[in-house]
This record gives sequence, C-alpha cells and structure tokens, in this order.
Amino acid sequence: MKTVKDYIRTIPDFPHEGIMFRDVTTLFADPRGFRMAIDQLLHPYAGQPIDRVVGLEARGFILGGAIAHQLSLGFVPIRKKGKLPGKTIEQDYQLEYGEAIMEVHDDALQPGERVLLVDDLLATGGTAEAGIKLIERIGASVMGCAFIIDLPELGGRKKLEDMGMNVHILCEFEGA
Ligand code: PRP
Ligand code: MG
Repeated sequence: MKTVKDYIRTIPDFPHEGIMFRDVTTLFADPRGFRMAIDQLLHPYAGQPIDRVVGLEARGFILGGAIAHQLSLGFVPIRKKGKLPGKTIEQDYQLEYGEAIMEVHDDALQPGERVLLVDDLLATGGTAEAGIKLIERIGASVMGCAFIIDLPELGGRKKLEDMGMNVHILCEFEGA
C-alpha cells in the first residue's frame, strides 16, 4: 500500500539550483493520499482536549482547514505580514536569506485555549517557532505541532522539542 511519502513529488533545483523541493501538491490532489495525510496528522490528537486548530500560511491552511473540520473545531490562520485585516500581533523569524514577519489577529485566540499547530513541512523550524511564539504571546498553549514532512538535517524538530513541544511528523526526507 502507498504511504503518504509515496504521494510527495520531488522537483530538483527549485527554487534554487541544488534544492530538492518536496512538492505536496501531488499528495493534496490525490483523494486517498490527502485523506491518509489528514487522518494521520490528527490521529494523536483525536479525543485530546484541543480548542482550536492554527495553520501557517500557506500550505498549513489546506491541512489545518481539513483537520479542524474533521475534529469539529474552528480554524485560525497565521499569515505573512500585511494580509490580515484586523488588529494583529507580529513575530519576526529567520529565512534562508534575511527575515520575515508572521501575524495573527490579536483576538483570534483566547488566553488559556489549547491549540494544535499545523504546517506542511519542518525545515529549520523558524516558521513554526514564530507561530508558537504568537500563540503563546496571546496566552494560549500549543498542545501539538503536526507536519507532513521533516527535513532532519535542518534541525527544526530538535528546535521545537527543545522548546518543550509535542511534535508529530509523518515522514522524513534526507537532504535540504
Ligand atoms: C515553507 C514550508 C514551511 C516553512 C518551513 O514555507 O511550507 O512553512 O517553509 O521552513 P522553516 O522550518 O525553515 O521555517 P514558505 O516559507 O516557503 O512559504 P509558503 O508556505 O507560503 O509557500
Ligand atoms: Mg510554508
């Protein structure tokens, strides 16, 4: 039987020469693959006391929306700066070259809420760390961080686990 990893396509030299891009669009496009990914991502959290699903732009929206629906929870987006219309709080984070900023509406979560954070891929962990900081600055707590792909050489999993996070990832790819 095919695994989630089998549905992920690798495109060499995107977006730069030497990068092996792990393309989840082929997983999302396949009805069996997509359902398998959603079921496996939420499996450890079904029946757990989770109040809200938070997704990181952009592919975390696709996964987080489906997981929230399946768990009968609401969904909250964390977006790149300048996209959310209401009052936000900001968190900067490191990119491969330079810095970027993520935002969340300051009233999107309530203090004390328990959150499941979702994204497609964990590389350096900088994006997820920014998401965790935003959630915690509101006074909510992160019960789990779920990803489809880990790139272990980039150390993101260790970074999040060193922060005390519960991390759930479906597959790994060697090489950045
Ligand atoms: C990719 C990926 C993760 C992030 C992981 O998103 O979807 O969100 O990088 O990298 P990190 O662990 O080193 O922070 P990207 O920033 O390319 O944006 P996108 O999802 O909007 O395409
Ligand atoms: Mg992303």
